[in-house]
Amino acid sequence: MKVIQMNNAYEISKAVASIFIDQINAKPESVLGFATGASPVETYKRIIEAYQNGQVSLKDITTFNLDEYCGLSRDNVNSYYYFMKDNLFGKTDVNFEKVNFLSGLSGDIESECKAYQAAIEKAGGIDIQLLGVGTNGHIGFNEPSDSFSDGPFKVELTQSTIDANSKYFENDDMPHFALTMGIGDILRAKKIILIATGASKAKAVYSMVKGEVSPQCPASVLQNHADATIFIDKESAALLNS
Ligand code: GLP
Repeated sequence: MKVIQMNNAYEISKAVASIFIDQINAKPESVLGFATGASPVETYKRIIEAYQNGQVSLKDITTFNLDEYCGLSRDNVNSYYYFMKDNLFGKTDVNFEKVNFLSGLSGDIESECKAYQAAIEKAGGIDIQLLGVGTNGHIGFNEPSDSFSDGPFKVELTQSTIDANSKYFENDDMPHFALTMGIGDILRAKKIILIATGASKAKAVYSMVKGEVSPQCPASVLQNHADATIFIDKESAALLNS
């Protein structure tokens, strides 16, 4: 696991966007794993800028997102599909036919999850998986638990995740369940990049980087990946530096 500390979120977004842009320019049909949440938003802005400046085209990439809330349709403003459309896909030339998402509306969760895993394999696996980290160390929606998951599955969100994410929901109607890629899916990506900024992530960053590899801190499993890079700012690095 490589840890790169930068001065601020803007510097991180430039560095991470360049990794994605170089990957797409080297392999226009790249398979990219994307994440939602506040952490990747600045990076998406830099990729959009590069697209607008003619430095990259996303038209041939295939995408897989990490997770989706149960019960929300794609046009619900709080769905992760809507988030990606709003923050990246809709502002570039991404081919929506190559956009893959777990469906939180599926009536047959088992088939939905199996089909998603099969689609990742059929696409040749993920070239780069982008991640944020939850304050409790979750990646995707893999919450702290007694074992590491493998393929996609339905998860009941923990109270800490509900508390952290409910600010995005106007009423108290945040779903308490989600579908997420499993830890196995994430680890099978050829390259992993995780962004963690701000003081609220300091504890999770410390456990992820210095703690034992344990499903109680799902992000710690990245210590076992051959090509995982963690981008952190001063605030999220506070406990590592103390
Ligand atoms: C959410 C998402 C994760 C995300 C994390 C951190 O619950 N499921 O994929 O990485 O929490 O979010 P943020 O970047 O907003 O802090």
